[in-house]
Amino acid sequence: MGKDVIIACDFASEKETIDFLDNFHDEKPYVKIGMELFYSVGPEIVREIKDRGHKIFLDLKLHDIPNTVKKAMRALSYLNVDMVNLHAAGTAAMMTAALEGLTREDGTRPLLIAVTQLTSTSEERMRDELLISRPIDEVVIHYAKNAESAGLDGVVCSPLEAKKVHSACGNSFLTVTPGIRFPEGDAGDQVRITTPQKAKEIGSDYIVVGRPITAASDPVSAYRRCVKEFID
Ligand code: C5P
Repeated sequence: MGKDVIIACDFASEKETIDFLDNFHDEKPYVKIGMELFYSVGPEIVREIKDRGHKIFLDLKLHDIPNTVKKAMRALSYLNVDMVNLHAAGTAAMMTAALEGLTREDGTRPLLIAVTQLTSTSEERMRDELLISRPIDEVVIHYAKNAESAGLDGVVCSPLEAKKVHSACGNSFLTVTPGIRFPEGDAGDQVRITTPQKAKEIGSDYIVVGRPITAASDPVSAYRRCVKEFID
């Protein structure tokens, strides 16, 4: 499965998103659409970006009872996205149901990726609020293994965790990794960050890059730099 750079299009409106994508003439980057854009514009934004020839990672992080997730995934499969995700905390039954819902009549389906623990959840909060007392690294790997046994394609994780996930779940289990910055770039609110080049060395399969590209004065050059460092 090919490595790719996914641009996180964290914009609040259709106009901002399309204006941003209009910068690209020679390439069609893989695009991540998150909750903000999807909930404010609606499924139409997915169709529009798809029609422009982009691959889409629809980052809606589903988590509900298996039957509801199955039906929601069926609706997303008709949107023809290339990658979707859910919370592994929804259990194996939910993940299996999601896969069933996602699989189209011709047997094809988008890639299905699990969120293990959100990076905003600290070990302390996990212990005190969620009553999960095991170390967070252990929890992340355990959830990744659950996702792998349920038949999912991979997990969203920090690039710094990619090697551990591959050792536990195999090299073909995908690691989709945000938290990417250029060495001279501003970390912003990200804490555990790495460069595209380092993510390649560690073995990430897809890097998800937002502000280093979307807020760059020349987004196309920033995207090309990511591709060059991560893939070429
Ligand atoms: O702008 P930046 O490169 O930090 O964007 C990273 C993207 O990846 C954002 O859309 C963010 O919500 C997402 N993400 C993340 N960390 C996670 C999961 C998703 O940064 N653990």
